[in-house]
Amino acid sequence: MSILDKHKIIEKNATLLLVFSFLVVTIGGIVEIAPLFYLENTIEKVKGMRPYSPLELTGRDIYVREGCYVCHSQMIRPMRDEVERYGHYSLAAESMYDHPFQWGSKRTGPDLARVGGRYSDAWHVDHLTNPQAVVPESVMPKYGFLKDRMIEPTHIEQRLETDRMVGVPYTDEMIANAAADFKVQVDPFGDTEGLLQRYPGAQVRNFDGAPGISEMDALIAYLQMLGTLVDFSTFQPVASR
Ligand code: HEC
Repeated sequence: MSILDKHKIIEKNATLLLVFSFLVVTIGGIVEIAPLFYLENTIEKVKGMRPYSPLELTGRDIYVREGCYVCHSQMIRPMRDEVERYGHYSLAAESMYDHPFQWGSKRTGPDLARVGGRYSDAWHVDHLTNPQAVVPESVMPKYGFLKDRMIEPTHIEQRLETDRMVGVPYTDEMIANAAADFKVQVDPFGDTEGLLQRYPGAQVRNFDGAPGISEMDALIAYLQMLGTLVDFSTFQPVASR
């Protein structure tokens, strides 16, 4: 019996074909996946990455709630047109504290991975309130209501603890100070020493320019932080070290 004839037996028997297909896929899967369990880390270490401050994390939750990811990606691909438009391509480390990640799969609007510092806070307030006032042809919805929604750090400790459960290295100290850190990040006259020591590079100011802490403050704090943590003047990709 030739090998082709033998193969015919499998091809003509659906059950046998299924069993062998399953076997092949299983072996393939093990070969691909098993090594990942033994690797210490697949994310290259970069300086500057830190967990989100309580206010930034709250802003991020608002970003997720409002579905900004439906129109905006947060992942710059290593292609020339993207790098020229948005900046250095995204590193795995830059989303390692993201639960869930916000890479997105659609760009109705531009990528936001490095939007931090590109515009002033006032620009963001104007743009979020009425995008068409800033970019007449914009199809982005209006989010002015965020300015009227005042927020308190009621559950912020639990929020940080939840992220810690899935691997974000929040310390006991960060959790104990979460509510205070949340409030002081919008208070330029407050004592921000602890906040800045726990979250280096955190930006402190009244983001929406209005009294009190609103969802607008939190969202803008998050947007202004995006892409600003890693210092790319000191970063060297593994391949070129
Ligand atoms: C229906 C799609 C859509 C949704 C949803 C959306 N946007 Fe946009 N966004 C756009 C488009 C289109 C632009 C480009 C035109 C403009 O600047 O308004 C844009 C631009 C932006 C910019 C300026 C980016 C740059 O580099 O110029 C920011 C910041 C932004 N959006 C933030 C947000 C945030 C935050 C949310 C969620 C609260 C959001 N967007 C939701 C479509 C959307």
